Amino acid sequence: MGRHHFIGARDIDRAAARLRDGGLVAFPTETVYGLGADAANDEAVARIFEIKGRPAFNPLIVHVADRQMAGAVAVFGPAAERLAEIFWPGPLTLVLPRREGTRPVSRLASAGLDTVALRQPDHRLAQALLAAADRPIAAPSANRSGGLSPTRAEHVDLPQPSDHPGGRSDDLLVIDGGPCPVGIESTVVEVHDGRIHILRPGGVPEDEIAARSGLEMTLGATSDGAAKSPGQGARHYAPATKLRLEASQVAADEVLLAFGPTPPKGAARTENLSAKGDLREAAANLFAMLHTLDGEGARAIAVMPVPDFGLGLAINDRLRRGAEIDQ
Ligand code: TXA
Ligand code: MG
Repeated sequence: MGRHHFIGARDIDRAAARLRDGGLVAFPTETVYGLGADAANDEAVARIFEIKGRPAFNPLIVHVADRQMAGAVAVFGPAAERLAEIFWPGPLTLVLPRREGTRPVSRLASAGLDTVALRQPDHRLAQALLAAADRPIAAPSANRSGGLSPTRAEHVDLPQPSDHPGGRSDDLLVIDGGPCPVGIESTVVEVHDGRIHILRPGGVPEDEIAARSGLEMTLGATSDGAAKSPGQGARHYAPATKLRLEASQVAADEVLLAFGPTPPKGAARTENLSAKGDLREAAANLFAMLHTLDGEGARAIAVMPVPDFGLGLAINDRLRRGAEIDQ
């Protein structure tokens, strides 16, 4: 267990500097405490998954200071505009199309999807942190995978990566804002063709969303009709190109997703998750490299074996799911 360093409003600039350096900071929102990273920094986002010990990559919520910051990373249609107007700042998360602007959200933060989940938190300290960091902050709840979401600073109990930048190796900065007033996570909705699809029930009740927005609602169904269970909202990203796992050789009409210092030669194109065999670097690169290789029009993406421990568990989970999808 890492040590936690509790700080208050006066130390916001220090926390913001750590985020800008690629470090992590736990901070209060009106719903629960989040474990935050610079949303555009793949390596920082990989650290979140590492310290939460998540065995899979779920897409994270990206927190924004205001509508302007939101508009730089996602595309708002009229229905989304309306929801943000009514419910922001507050515990409503909007899943919207990604925008590939100058500092796009990390592909790992959105787990390879073409959408990104955004909200503007209604909490003085969260807003101060966003303003001081001057960038979107990706943050899941600040608990270990499978644990309870913390609603007080002293409930935050996370290990710290050993090589955390910008601080002592064993202290995680936790901004102490006392108890979270809402105490349950935000409601997550996807907006599609002017209709709202509830992906996760939460802090704003669905009847209130319907009544105040006048928009039509669907519970637990996606824009494309596939079943979605609440809380498990996201579709999984899968490349259109077939994945061939555990590859030790590669054919000329294949592209290669390599891992480690000695990839086989002969692929039409090779992207290496981590030439030095570092799992965090591999996690940070995974979705962006899959997207790149998927665009090559190859017969298959050959994937070298990735060790099945630490972040390798989540990487392999995602690769196996991608390989199972019928092509
Ligand atoms: O209140 C909250 O929402 C807290 C505070 C810290 O803001 N955050 C939180 O984050 O609960 P997390 O990562 O524990 O939950 C994110 C939820 C998951 O249900 C995930 O599937 C969904 O949001 N989600 C994120 N991005 C998505 C996307 N692109 N498409 C569909 N669902 C998405
Ligand atoms: Mg959570």
